[in-house]
Amino acid sequence: MEKKPVISIIGGTGNLGTGLAKRLAVKGYKVILGSRSEEKAEKSAAELKRALGVDLIRGMPNPEAVRGGDLIILTVVQSAHEAALKSLKEDLQGKILVDATARIKFPNPKPPQPPSASRRAQTLLGEGVRVVAAFQNVAAQSFADLEKELESDVLVCADDQEAARQVIDIIEDLGMQAYYAGDLDAANTVEGLTALLVNINKFNDIQHASIQVTGGE
Ligand SMILES: NC(=O)c1ccc[n+]([C@@H]2O[C@H](COP(=O)([O-])OP(=O)(O)OC[C@H]3O[C@@H](n4cnc5c(N)ncnc54)[C@H](OP(=O)(O)O)[C@@H]3O)[C@@H](O)[C@H]2O)c1
Repeated sequence: MEKKPVISIIGGTGNLGTGLAKRLAVKGYKVILGSRSEEKAEKSAAELKRALGVDLIRGMPNPEAVRGGDLIILTVVQSAHEAALKSLKEDLQGKILVDATARIKFPNPKPPQPPSASRRAQTLLGEGVRVVAAFQNVAAQSFADLEKELESDVLVCADDQEAARQVIDIIEDLGMQAYYAGDLDAANTVEGLTALLVNINKFNDIQHASIQVTGGE
């Protein structure tokens, strides 16, 4: 990678957003945490900077965060998916949007109905935004604990394979294996896998079940 992109995380004050921000910042990425509240964004950024001892994280309202980022990751609560995308549609034009949404209903998760969250995002945002689905199978806690090695592989889905390649390069830079797994319709299966992983945790006394792809060599 020639120059590391600035990465903005929408809903970046949450569990997955702060975990991803930590992993990105310790690898030298500039990260912008987006929030509905400027104060909350700045507070989260200050906490992470203090904890990590790096000066690479800033906090901003979501629209400014989108405008300031080269690549955007969406980690808002699943119930806010559509509303967040609608409110940021204009600012997102021309960008790559990585959608981490896994539509899981607790306590008994089932595979969600198609279309996938990322297909819904692509339809809503139009062709001016390149949507990539990733991270739906990785527990936020796995990112948050920097002492722990990242064991999970990441399945990456997109209609635009070049955009997927850029996201895969970043994921591999974080120390994970990433695999292109098909277009945005395939991402519905990836969301369903998250439901299975939640069940595996629940019925087998496992903390953060994840997936690994084998069979390469
Ligand atoms: N947690 C995991 O282990 C995990 C793993 C894989 C994928 N995911 C996916 O990642 C996404 C985030 O999960 P999470 O557990 O990180 O969520 P979370 O911590 O509960 O919330 C994330 C952020 O969503 C924002 N938010 C809440 N209500 C909102 C609204 N009405 N409009 C706009 N933003 C709103 C909040 O940010 P502000 O209040 O600062 O605006 C909050 O910090 C979900 O789609 C989930 O399926 C989660």
